[in-house]
Amino acid sequence: MTPSSIGNINFNLTDVWHESVDGIRITDLDGKIIAVNPAFCKLFDKPETELIYQPFHILYHPNIQGEIIKEYNDDFSSDNVKPRLERKVVLWNGRKVWLEFSNSFIKGFSNDNLVLSLVRDISERKENELQLVKSEKQFRSLFNNTSDAMFVCYLNYGKTLGSFVEANEKACQILGCSMNELLQLNPLQVFFENREDEILKFIDRLNANKSIIFNALLTGKNIDRIPAEINSRLFDYNERPAILFISRDIAERRDFEEKLKQRTNQLRNLASKLQSIREEERKMISREIHDELGQMLTVLKIQISLLSNKITDNDIIKSKFNSVEKLIDNSIESVQKIASKLRPGLLDELGLIPAIEWQTQDFMENTGIDCEYTLPKEEINLDQEKSTALFRIFQESIFNTARHANASKIFINLREVNNELVLEIIDNGKGITQNQISDPKSLGLLGMKERALIIGGSVVIKSSMNNGTTVKAVIPLINNISNK
Ligand SMILES: Nc1ncnc2c1ncn2[C@@H]1O[C@H](COP(=O)(O)OP(=O)(O)OP(=O)(O)O)[C@@H](O)[C@H]1O
Ligand SMILES: [Mg+2]
Repeated sequence: MTPSSIGNINFNLTDVWHESVDGIRITDLDGKIIAVNPAFCKLFDKPETELIYQPFHILYHPNIQGEIIKEYNDDFSSDNVKPRLERKVVLWNGRKVWLEFSNSFIKGFSNDNLVLSLVRDISERKENELQLVKSEKQFRSLFNNTSDAMFVCYLNYGKTLGSFVEANEKACQILGCSMNELLQLNPLQVFFENREDEILKFIDRLNANKSIIFNALLTGKNIDRIPAEINSRLFDYNERPAILFISRDIAERRDFEEKLKQRTNQLRNLASKLQSIREEERKMISREIHDELGQMLTVLKIQISLLSNKITDNDIIKSKFNSVEKLIDNSIESVQKIASKLRPGLLDELGLIPAIEWQTQDFMENTGIDCEYTLPKEEINLDQEKSTALFRIFQESIFNTARHANASKIFINLREVNNELVLEIIDNGKGITQNQISDPKSLGLLGMKERALIIGGSVVIKSSMNNGTTVKAVIPLINNISNK
């Protein structure tokens, strides 16, 4: 073959035919193969000798040959050719491939129309494309089937937000509009109630932090002010900075929180009621034991003493009477102790400070733990509910030290600061772990906190391992006029 020239380059056309990586095929309009190049033979896995002058459909699996012939006739007529085609086919040997055909007419020696087809195996590209379509479909389905509404808008020049460019079906549903209507809205209208200053602050914070969670009242076409929690995040969309807004409806959560709050309050009130009933009962039982039983024992003691005075001549009986009198004395002491333990009379008669003093002395005697206390010089005018609560907190705290702390010393400090009464109990024991402090099973500690909460105060427990424990109770004194 003589060299051809295109532009300034001379080359041999047969080189193109032989070296092309694409398959080249020439057929007549009836589909008879006139010529094929080596790349075509390789692609179809058949030698040239088996193809020349054969109908083109022998390249395909018998099951699809009929269909292929029909397509060939549709694709090429005497004056028309489909220039580019993509087909998924099964080759004669059963191999499935995607083929791309680039077709054109060329003139044969007898001036008849022949079809020149460049054939390329595009299976890999097609598989990738299909995979992409599939994952896009999956992504869409995920995007549209989340229970959260999602919106995307561009962040222009890092400063302004455009209309939404993407949204899912949930977003349309929540805002009560079609996708077309939604894509005409922007974040300023939907999340920021048209408050420019708020959106400027938001953009600044988002640029600094890359993602922000905030609460908003959603406004849409047919809805007004739906409470939502918005998770916003900067990301690249179509190679431009954009913001993804994920909006979660929190009306239900708010409702639930409100109900939980009500329920907690009800339970707190109930606990408070039970505490005061318990205190009243203790007071009553303590008084009954102290007064009734105490008085009876005193009368008994007097009677026994009178009787023993009458018996002057029998030493044995006299000594028996003496030991009975001693027994009665011990019983009177026990009765007083039991009554005090139930509820120290001092608390009701003289108030919190003498009650704490008495309890501390008693505690030191019984446990041997040294207590140092600083108490106000004068009694504080405190209502019974508050003084009882503080006293019980104090008791729980020192008894905890005795039971668990392995401490040798306790500092007790009660003082009035800015209309608040502060009680601190500090031990030098082994300390409590944070887990123990917040353990819902630590009912003693929980009880202290609850007692304080009921009267508008608080209890904070601080501790570090081997460094002692501090219990600090703060109770408001408003409505209580100090005697100072
Ligand atoms: N001052 C303290 N020093 C060290 N550990 C403490 C101290 N106070 C409490 N604890 C630890 O915290 C736990 C919880 O205390 P809490 O008072 O709630 O329960 P409790 O004293 O074991 O039982 P109770 O319900 O009778 O009060 C205790 O079991 C103990 O391990
Ligand atoms: Mg306890």
